[in-house]
Amino acid sequence: MKRLGVNIDHVATIRNARGEDHPNVYNAAKFALKCGAHSITIHLREDRRHINDKDLKILSSNKKIPINLELSTNMKIIKIALKNKPNYICIVPEKRKEITTEGGLNLKNNKKKLKNIIQKFKKKNIRTSLFINPSLKDISYSKDIGTDCIEIHTGHISRLIKSNKNYIKELAKIKKCSKKANNLGIEVHAGHGMDYKTAKILSKIGEIKEFNIGHFIIGESIFFGLKKTIKNFIKIFK
Ligand code: PXP
Repeated sequence: MKRLGVNIDHVATIRNARGEDHPNVYNAAKFALKCGAHSITIHLREDRRHINDKDLKILSSNKKIPINLELSTNMKIIKIALKNKPNYICIVPEKRKEITTEGGLNLKNNKKKLKNIIQKFKKKNIRTSLFINPSLKDISYSKDIGTDCIEIHTGHISRLIKSNKNYIKELAKIKKCSKKANNLGIEVHAGHGMDYKTAKILSKIGEIKEFNIGHFIIGESIFFGLKKTIKNFIKIFK
C-alpha cells in the first residue's frame, strides 16, 4: 500500500476568496484523514496565498494530524516551521510569480544551504524531503545533502499523460531515479499535477512509497465529494 498525502492548500484558496472561515481548513484536514488519507500536505508560501501562519499553528498543534509542510529555503519560513514542528517537511523551490511549483530544486547550486536546513529539522526529529526533478545527478546530490526522502516532481509526466503524448521516456527516468534513491537508502515520494490516470501509471513503481496530491483532489471533489475522491485514490494505491 502506498501512502496518500492530501494537499489541502486549495481548500484555503477557496476560503481566502471570501476572507472568512469557510471552508474550514482544519476540518478539511480531519475529514481527509477520516476518508483514508495518510497525511496532510500544506505549503506555507512566502506570499501566504493559501495556507497562513494561523492554519499551520492550529494544524500542527494537533499531533493526531500528520502534517507534511512544504517550504522554501527562506529563513523566515524555516524559523516558523521549526517553531511549529510539523511531522515532516519538504523543501521546494519558490518563485513569487509562479502559479504553482514549476520544477524541482537546484541542488547543485544550493548544496551547502540545503544541508544546513536539513540538519536543523533532523535535530528536531522531523522527517526531511527535497522536491527534485527526476535526474540521477540530483539523487546523488540528495544523498550528499543527507535528506531522509526525496519527492520526485511529476508535473512533466502528468502533462504528457493528460495530453496523450508519449510519456515512456519520462517514466523510465522516474523509474531509474526511484531505484537509485531507494538503493541509497532514501525514501521516494512523488507528486505534482497528478490525477487518476497518472496515479495508476506511477503506482506501479514499487520504490515510490508516498504520493502527495492536491489540486485534482479538491477540483474533483466539486463533482464527487472529497470522500469519494480520496477513496478512489486509495483504491489505486492498494
Ligand atoms: N508535492 C509538492 C512538493 C508540491 O509543491 C505540490 C504543489 O503544491 C504538490 C505535491 C501537489 O501538487 P498538485 O496540487 O498539482 O497535486
